[in-house]
Amino acid sequence: MKNRSQKEKRLLVANWKMNPISLDQAEKIFHKIAKKTKSLRSTKVIICPPFLFIPPLTRGLPTHISLGSQNCFWEKEGAYTGEVSPVMLKKAGCRYVILGHSERRKYFGETEEIIKEKLQGALKAGLAPILCIGETIEQRKEGKTQRVLAFQLRSSALLNAQNNKLVLAYEPRWAIGTGETPDPAQAGQIARFIKEKTGDTTFLLYGGSVDSKNAVSFIEQGFDGLLVGGASLDAEEFAKIGGVIENG
Ligand code: PGA
Repeated sequence: MKNRSQKEKRLLVANWKMNPISLDQAEKIFHKIAKKTKSLRSTKVIICPPFLFIPPLTRGLPTHISLGSQNCFWEKEGAYTGEVSPVMLKKAGCRYVILGHSERRKYFGETEEIIKEKLQGALKAGLAPILCIGETIEQRKEGKTQRVLAFQLRSSALLNAQNNKLVLAYEPRWAIGTGETPDPAQAGQIARFIKEKTGDTTFLLYGGSVDSKNAVSFIEQGFDGLLVGGASLDAEEFAKIGGVIENG
């Protein structure tokens, strides 16, 4: 179950993807976000930078910000060239890890099985996974959205364990980086559907083309927070989203 102190908070997650190009730029954005979100009281800020920038950003990490990674492998250590383990991330200061993002599913062939292994590995290491689920535009047009979401939820299987560390993010694939978003009524319907399926045991975020103008509509429709891509690299805009959802 969501524990009480968590339930009272909203989550605002930044997914920087493969940006920015240098540590110098990353630190500038990070410190600006830290300064501008300092006054948020009921919104927890989580920044997910590329792996390389995680250790330097943990130095002097402000208490109102947590770090997450955008991916991880499932094994603790060993002969897995090019991978980063959840235990390494935890030791480096990460508390969260985004898993099952649609870009990982699309460009790196991540299947439900792979995602499940990663979820288990992350939980075992003590990381809180932020599991992304969402339908493609074709699935949406064919009226299969709920079926796809139910499948993605079921195949994570861990929901049955009611693990209070898991965070869910509904990210319709057609809304990511496109400037398009579901209309509020549709988003609300999906939020209710997912909460019903999960017994409302996890935090539920919305992600996909979130900005400071549309942010409040998702909170009003029952989402507990937001997963922000493009707009999270603009410290001013990202902090503005924080202000909007905190009062939403
Ligand atoms: P976007 O990305 O906000 O740029 O659409 C969201 C995401 O990929 O998590």
